[in-house]
Amino acid sequence: MKSVKKKRKKSLNSNTSSSNYNDLDPAKLPSHVAVIMDGNGRWAKKRLLNRIQGHEKGSKTVRTIVRACREIGISYLTLYAFSTENWQRPQSEVLALMTLLKKFLESEKKEMLDNNIRLYAIGQIERLPENVRQTLHNVMALTKNNNGMTLNLALSYGGRAEIVKMVKEIAIKAKEGRMGPDSITPEIISEHLYTHQMPDPDLLIRTSGEMRISNFLLWQIAYSEIYITDTLWPDFGKDEFVRILKDYQQRERRFGKV
Ligand code: FPP
Repeated sequence: MKSVKKKRKKSLNSNTSSSNYNDLDPAKLPSHVAVIMDGNGRWAKKRLLNRIQGHEKGSKTVRTIVRACREIGISYLTLYAFSTENWQRPQSEVLALMTLLKKFLESEKKEMLDNNIRLYAIGQIERLPENVRQTLHNVMALTKNNNGMTLNLALSYGGRAEIVKMVKEIAIKAKEGRMGPDSITPEIISEHLYTHQMPDPDLLIRTSGEMRISNFLLWQIAYSEIYITDTLWPDFGKDEFVRILKDYQQRERRFGKV
């Protein structure tokens, strides 16, 4: 048991993985990578497994990509783990996803503490089951002063719901006379979103080939570079992640200018 632990720690602190991080330009790394993790169900179906087994394998990929980001030096990783629409899935699947999330938080707590990773969550956290919320708040509180990287989980998250929440907050301030129409700027809007403490994503990755945004970070991805891969999330790994970062580093970001 001890030797396994030692090995895990070594792999996180060293650069000996088969993915060649050394080819990446440290000066051109994205600060914030956001991921739409899609394809767990299709991965399971292809193997005649049930959807929940797909999510289980997907949660192992989460661990791999969090580690890769920490090793590479990405400051913010936002993962779309559960959308506002996902509540409409069969109750058994919702329950399995909540159980997996709780398990993930419990099993990764130590690694987050050891590796200076802060856990953060965006979305309608109040809708999560009480036991999941408690674990989430516990790990968030324990890691709140970590500054090596932020793992930001989008949970019961919807971009439109986030915009509605922002508009309501601003409307209340306006009604109370604390804000007028002229004080509403893009910066003020960003400050009223769940992501107010972090930069907008530089890179948005979607797995499993679907060409859509699915209500994810609608305001924040205005200038994000988008990369869609056909790989299903459970098959996604470090090597492909590094290839995508290399592709990102070749792109010219113009933010609407020439
Ligand atoms: C999409 O695949 C994936 C989800 C709705 C949930 C993502 C959850 C995980 C990766 C595992 C648990 C999360 C954490 C943070 C430990 P899908 O079910 O829509 O796949 P399909 O489109 O192929 O059916």
